[in-house]
Amino acid sequence: MKIALFASGTGSNVRNIIKHFEKNKNVEIASVFSNKANAGALLHAIEAGIPTYVFSNQELTDVDSVYKIIEKQELDLIVLAGFLLKIPKLFISKFEGKIINLHPSLLPKFGGKGMYGTHVHRAVLAANELETGITIHYVNENYDKGAIIKQFKIDLTESDNLEAVQEKIKWLEKTYFPITIEELTNKL
Ligand code: GAR
Repeated sequence: MKIALFASGTGSNVRNIIKHFEKNKNVEIASVFSNKANAGALLHAIEAGIPTYVFSNQELTDVDSVYKIIEKQELDLIVLAGFLLKIPKLFISKFEGKIINLHPSLLPKFGGKGMYGTHVHRAVLAANELETGITIHYVNENYDKGAIIKQFKIDLTESDNLEAVQEKIKWLEKTYFPITIEELTNKL
């Protein structure tokens, strides 16, 4: 079973996923892709000896570029772990049902274009939500609209500020994202 990870940021999720699957001999994290040359996610991959690929926004949509590499890797699953670009239609048609995303809110709330990272948490706080959470879902052509695989919730209190919300979400992601991916790989 081969998985590729796509990430744009610091890569705490990439690190957790890599660590989790080191114990699972049936699953190989085959590659880590990023649109940011300085993404922390790449360092976590390099430390673990996993091949990395950096590409431009243009190369993501080019049929002879990222797509060619991915196609050769014969992947079972593509996991977006803090990846902030829209996945091109080409990928979605070729890897239907094989691309999943992590979103830091309880979709359909607080999803869509521009809703990523702290933007999401700020919106959750501004709406005085009593709970927040993470959604793991399939990727389709519309931002954050693909079928939901699993959601995990956490209560918010009146004293929760941006940092507190961030911490709670990070905890949910660390606790549940790798095992949800593992459950999916068991069903593939
Ligand atoms: C994560 O919280 C993830 O849920 C979010 O970006 C963060 C990346 O953190 N993804 C989105 O907002 C996607 N719309 P990381 O780089 O430390 O893994």
